[in-house]
Amino acid sequence: MTRRYSRITGTGSFLPEQRISNDELAARLALDGIETSDQWIVERTGIHARHFAAPDVGSSDLALEASKRALAAAGLQADDLDLIIVATSTPDMVFPSTAALLQHKLGTAGSAAFDVQAVCSGFVYALTVADAMIQSGSANRALVVGAEVFSRLLDFTDRTTCVLFGDGAGAVVLEASDRPGILASDLHADGKHAGILCVPGNVSGGKAMGDPLLKMDGQAVFKLAVGVLEDAARQVLAKADKTAADIDWLIPHQANIRIMQMTARKLRLPMDKVIVTVGEHGNTSAASIPLALDAGIRDGKIKPGDTLMLEGVGGGFTWGAVLLDL
Ligand code: UT7
Repeated sequence: MTRRYSRITGTGSFLPEQRISNDELAARLALDGIETSDQWIVERTGIHARHFAAPDVGSSDLALEASKRALAAAGLQADDLDLIIVATSTPDMVFPSTAALLQHKLGTAGSAAFDVQAVCSGFVYALTVADAMIQSGSANRALVVGAEVFSRLLDFTDRTTCVLFGDGAGAVVLEASDRPGILASDLHADGKHAGILCVPGNVSGGKAMGDPLLKMDGQAVFKLAVGVLEDAARQVLAKADKTAADIDWLIPHQANIRIMQMTARKLRLPMDKVIVTVGEHGNTSAASIPLALDAGIRDGKIKPGDTLMLEGVGGGFTWGAVLLDL
């Protein structure tokens, strides 16, 4: 019997219209006496700008635009899908899932639809789940989306976090194939580090309880991220019986250019094999990897047949990697 694999057959992405440069953000923060500068943000993070969604735009709206583009690239209609997974930490509602809302906005019904919550690792988690469902025969055509409106979680009085994040969405269509596709995945979490990157509030009795804004110990996250990204890369390569020399493109979570540079150096990959979009996108959490993947494909850098390593890391603490042939 031929083995079933899953392959990416289309990608799409979407950024909300409002682009905020570092200088614009710095001017806005200065009104409240918060000091920052384009120079500090660029030197420490590589971020030049981020996009913020309008107040009436939710993750499902950004996901819809990215999904339409991914479906068009795959030559499919929404009715062809039997699975929709959205990775998000900024759902439109407590429930139903953003995936169910997206399904309806796409004008279809009946497919399985659910969200995955693994913060900035969400897309590699969602892709791994969709791949497993396709390999097992419980799905044939999946839409896997990362979509976030992280601007809603930002504390604009905390300059150590509010300059880092942005909004956006990226999507891929994943289809069953007798040719791989996704070669291997490697996912991990360690909940003891929950406190170093979290939004500690919740909704109860009709009110937000606790603090519903993002908190981060940036240096602790930085140190952990560099170590676990190297481990996940080595583990996923070993699972697929490949080496770093087989990677055509590394597509890391777009949190900080310095983390990406250190990860590439540890894998002995030159930076010209790394897709970098953090400069224009900021950190869009679960959306960052599919946004970067789509940008790399549409720029003509990433070509059919290339071997890609996708790597996520974030709140939880969660981390993971997916190795695939396009
Ligand atoms: O997707 C989730 C993953 N998250 C991440 O990957 C974040 C990982 N961490 C980081 O990217 C970095 O730790 C940051 C970019 C958040 C911070 O960079 P850093 O090099 O670790 O800076 P720092 O926290 O050591 O702060 C250095 C200085 C401090 O001033 P003092 O104490 O040296 O006087 C901060 O108060 O920079 C100051 N600072 C700022 N200055 C201007 C912190 N934020 C700002 C700011 N503008 N926005």
